[in-house]
Amino acid sequence: QPIRLSDYRPPAFLVDEVHLDFQLEPNATRVRSRLTLRRNGEHAEPLRLDGVRLKPVSVAIDGRPLAEDAYAITPEDLTIASVPDAFVLETEVEIDPEGNKALEGLYMSGGRFCSQCEAEGFRKITWFPDRPDVLARYTVRIEADQAAFPRLLSNGNLTQSGALAGGRHFAIWTDPFPKPCYLFALVAGELDELADSFVTMSGRQVELRIYVDPGMAQRALYAMDSLKRSMKWDEETFGREYDLDLFMIVAVRDFNFGAMENKGLNVFNSSLLLADPETATDFDYERIEGVVAHEYFHNWTGNRITCRDWFQLCLKEGLTVFRDQSFSGDMRGAVVQRIKDVKALRARQFPEDAGPLAHQVRPSSYLKIDNFYTATIYEKGAEVIRMLKTILGAEMFRKGMDLYFERWDGHATTVEAFIQCFADVSGKDLSAFFAWYEQAGTPKLEVDAAYDAEAKALELTLSQATAPTPGQPDKQPLPLPVALGLLDLDGEVLSFRQEGTLAPATEAVVVLDQARQTLRFEGVASEPAVSVLRGFSAPVRVVSAAPAKHRYVQLAADPDLFNRWEAGQDLARDLILARAAGEPDEVGEERFAEAMGRALNDQAAEPAFKALLLSLPSESDLAVISAPADPAAIREARESLRARLAIHLGDQLRRLHGGLQEAGEFSASAEAAGRRALRNAALELLAADPRAINVDRAVGHFQAAGNMTDAMGGLAALMLMGGEPFEQALTAFYERWKAEPLVIDKWFAVQARSPSEDALGRVLGLTTHPDFDAKNPNRFRALVGTFAAGNPARFHDPSGDGYRFLADQILAVDGFNPMTAARLVEPLGGWRRYRPELGALMRAQLERIVATEGLSKNVFELASRALEG
Ligand code: ARG
Ligand code: ZN
Repeated sequence: QPIRLSDYRPPAFLVDEVHLDFQLEPNATRVRSRLTLRRNGEHAEPLRLDGVRLKPVSVAIDGRPLAEDAYAITPEDLTIASVPDAFVLETEVEIDPEGNKALEGLYMSGGRFCSQCEAEGFRKITWFPDRPDVLARYTVRIEADQAAFPRLLSNGNLTQSGALAGGRHFAIWTDPFPKPCYLFALVAGELDELADSFVTMSGRQVELRIYVDPGMAQRALYAMDSLKRSMKWDEETFGREYDLDLFMIVAVRDFNFGAMENKGLNVFNSSLLLADPETATDFDYERIEGVVAHEYFHNWTGNRITCRDWFQLCLKEGLTVFRDQSFSGDMRGAVVQRIKDVKALRARQFPEDAGPLAHQVRPSSYLKIDNFYTATIYEKGAEVIRMLKTILGAEMFRKGMDLYFERWDGHATTVEAFIQCFADVSGKDLSAFFAWYEQAGTPKLEVDAAYDAEAKALELTLSQATAPTPGQPDKQPLPLPVALGLLDLDGEVLSFRQEGTLAPATEAVVVLDQARQTLRFEGVASEPAVSVLRGFSAPVRVVSAAPAKHRYVQLAADPDLFNRWEAGQDLARDLILARAAGEPDEVGEERFAEAMGRALNDQAAEPAFKALLLSLPSESDLAVISAPADPAAIREARESLRARLAIHLGDQLRRLHGGLQEAGEFSASAEAAGRRALRNAALELLAADPRAINVDRAVGHFQAAGNMTDAMGGLAALMLMGGEPFEQALTAFYERWKAEPLVIDKWFAVQARSPSEDALGRVLGLTTHPDFDAKNPNRFRALVGTFAAGNPARFHDPSGDGYRFLADQILAVDGFNPMTAARLVEPLGGWRRYRPELGALMRAQLERIVATEGLSKNVFELASRALEG
């Protein structure tokens, strides 16, 4: 019985005030709630409140306890048949945070209370209309043992606190802004505090607090710095100011996903908050900066303006990802950031869109909303906003955002209402654009260029097509912004006149809104290499008939650095796929190696950019575009191209590696991180040299590492080479870091990526390691998730053992944590795209999962959809 967008109805009752009183005890917490309710409209419906696994203690209306037969309780709700039009409902329940291993609702992590309510966890705390369009003001009183739980935190401002008899104490928190219950949060326990403050653009002082495990406050410095930069950026870029006097972040070790934007009290997975050079990599720093910004930006796009229903999830997520990506681009360099974002989109969203789990950016039905916190809703959702900005221009985009904030502040709204703001400010009809939200699948953009040397004219034919996805057999053309420019074959920029215009230009954005369109460009001085989809102006797959020689021109000289990088990726992809198909192009591979050598020598290019240039398309990217995919052949072909590069460019790479070694003080800056990235990328490529002449270099790199980025760079290179040096490094690493859970997660993950024959055996062995703990999502994902998603050649072992292992793990974890279990179904979902022998084995495991008794709705929904699609 799926829930459908078309069934949306406004809430039957509204809540104005919420008073909660928590008596915290790990195994038996009492939650008293006093709700001021009123009927919404003229109807005589009963009151129905959500509530899951709550032990009822009492129910009263307007101060009078209800008789047992006046209400009904099921495992999912509380119904009171007859209620006045306006009344106060008081309930009391008991819950068991210690026993809550689903990590949803109120639970314990590391001896502390914490909560996670989005999407539907509040119903595990108390009875409530658990839907985002019921906005209420909250007052929360927390009482607990003072010694065990010295800090008591919730949303808003602290209005009162004090000691009580019997070693207990209390705190009262008041949140002046009406909010949906998914933004409620409570944290209690022993925590260290990092304190700072920020003065907003209107001159208000905001206190900033980050709470972490005792002894870890210094590791929150980078997150604090990121927070202050985010606050400033949102003021400067979107005119958005923070609204409370206090902003808090808490780090917890047991968390199902990255972080959560609860009003005034963000809760973070500690892996996305804690960092110092010794224990965190540059990638961790980058992620912390991005996620701190993301959660902070939600205060306006998510909290002040929230979603009417969960089908609108992309209204806050796609938009907030777009905002955090823009922030990161401003902090770290737009091109490098864009390349990384596109790589992530291709790695996670393209496979989703190409498989049975493909869904719309705004879905129209679901069983468990938790299953829709996907790359499509987040990352493709962000691409849709980016296209909107490209089509309207930066200024008009900002006007539309301003109108959105003005019109919808304090409301729960829809994607239509959001888009309407841009239609209103621009006077444009955006109804065709809306199809980006409603049509699933990655469009294929075909580009065909014909140059007429006599007329000095270029005819460019663009066509688009989207393959059917489950439930959507027929696809429409989408309005697709294509940024483009021309280069002559010496790499000089060519100017051109677009048909119907007079002024010559060097760059244009055309919006393709038909299935096929031919554009004419005049005044094109010589045969051009066409640089299309600059900056990845639309989330599509480009298929171009252009000869390799055009790509070499782009790789050397395209002024659009995204496309310069892309040209290298395209060349590598074609070479790898040719080899995987048994038709290696040896001459082409040599030519590619030479071109890469020249690109690496380019003094003008940034190290971070060169590092990205050196990393070839991933095995899973390549699997998505080969039909049917053969992961073993892809790995072999990719490794052999890497080996050729390692041999051909060996001296250059070794010089690079030696020359970039840094002495002195660690810097987390983007520039320093870029140099480390390039040095590690050089080493990673050298690791592919089959002659094993670079082993000592990798060992030296690992042993001399003065920070975690270099240590992991060394360890990863040794992992690729395997053998005794890798085993020794692993042991040394473990001994050094065994007391640091976040570092030990990395130790598990690097082993799960091992290319060696016995990788699955190693992973299986690690599931019985004393440090393995399936109840901790970070640890579980580090081992099992990394193996299934990050080691395709071993996961897709022809024996099917990799699939069986994953299914076993999903079933085991589903018993207590359905959300984390469900996230691992995806690697089995692509069965149709693999060699039939593999596909059949994958299907068999999905069938086994679906047939299991007592399966959660979460896993059932994804596994059954994977089978059908
Ligand atoms: N809103 C959070 C964020 O994007 C994520 C919440 C995830 N919840 C879930 N049930 N998967 O920052
Ligand atoms: Zn978010």
